[in-house]
Amino acid sequence: MPQHVQGVIAPGRNEPVRVETIVIPDPGPGEAVVKIQACGVCHTDLHYKQGAINDEFPFLLGHEAAGIVESVGEGVTDVTPGDFVILNWRAVCGTCRACTRGRPWYCFATHNAKQKMTLLDGTELSPALGIGAFAEKTLVAAGQCTKVDPSVAPEVAGLLGCGVMAGIGAAINTGNVGRGDTVAVIGCGGVGDAAVVGSRLAGAAKIIAVDIDDRKLDKAREMGATHTVNSRTADAVEAIRELTGGFGADVVIEAVGRPETYEQAFYARDLAGTVVLVGVPSPEMKLELPLLDVFGRGGSLKSSWYGDCLPSRDFPMLIDLHQQGRIDLAAFVTETIGLGDVEKAFARMHEGDVLRSVVVL
Ligand code: APR
Ligand code: ZN
Ligand code: ZN
Repeated sequence: MPQHVQGVIAPGRNEPVRVETIVIPDPGPGEAVVKIQACGVCHTDLHYKQGAINDEFPFLLGHEAAGIVESVGEGVTDVTPGDFVILNWRAVCGTCRACTRGRPWYCFATHNAKQKMTLLDGTELSPALGIGAFAEKTLVAAGQCTKVDPSVAPEVAGLLGCGVMAGIGAAINTGNVGRGDTVAVIGCGGVGDAAVVGSRLAGAAKIIAVDIDDRKLDKAREMGATHTVNSRTADAVEAIRELTGGFGADVVIEAVGRPETYEQAFYARDLAGTVVLVGVPSPEMKLELPLLDVFGRGGSLKSSWYGDCLPSRDFPMLIDLHQQGRIDLAAFVTETIGLGDVEKAFARMHEGDVLRSVVVL
């Protein structure tokens, strides 16, 4: 029997989000219904509401979530009802050219539930990133469920479903930060701070946090940054060079998603260093760089999709490190809120007041 539950809908471009009754079908082959326990408010949810992702309104928002599998469809064997899972938005297919070459974190054919969730009048919903977890329950592809240790708090576990995984992965998977490296992180929101945490975990000797907001820099220091630079009052490139013996950092992680901060990252790295772009640019943004500098400075310019993570490998591992006290994922939770508070959380995000507001159900 299809179920009726409450969920947060973005009805149209820039219209306030609202809680509505939504219809969740029973899981079909390869699908699962998950009872959501917690879901973080991510920038991408705001981008959906603003129409910056696509025009497929109405959206069912929320995609950074943890919960309990309630039921599974035909052929599902990896998870069973009662499992505590983190939802991921890149369920790997196992058969595309990336997967078959042994690089599933690049999977080019990730999948979601085939059936649609709807409003009561039958209007089909577009779930954010194929998840839609600001809701009491949601329907996903079973491969989007990654089972982890159930003793961790859902509001903490869920964060690995998006921003925190993206940042940690940008450092350890994409940037290959290693022992003794110097790292600079430009933009210290949830993603940038997670890159700080990842760099520390990987044994970086120096972690330079750059932001235009002193509150963010204080928080980055708590997360493990060894040095901070306010790029509103100082030249970020000069400051990073000064802190690295005049050379630049081995790895610079751009966690804002703007041309000017990308350019800072490009020039703030040492020769043959690595730039990782994990901030997500918008379509109108353009970058101009002297091609000779791109060649002459060598090294690699990478982007990080979802931290180039493999959920089945990385989620349980990071939960384990959190449980051992070797990383502190709880430090990312600024506040817990209810389903009705998402619009307010967007405003606080816009003001830079929070790392993460997390809806707890
Ligand atoms: N220079 C340095 N820092 C900046 C600049 C700038 N020009 N502009 C903004 N920032 C800082 C903000 O002060 C804030 O601390 O970047 C940070 C961005 O943080 P959030 O808004 O919390 O965003 P976050 O969730 O961390 O995501 C960062 O990654 O996933 C993408 O879409 C997301 O593009 C966004 C980026
Ligand atoms: Zn694949
Ligand atoms: Zn997200």
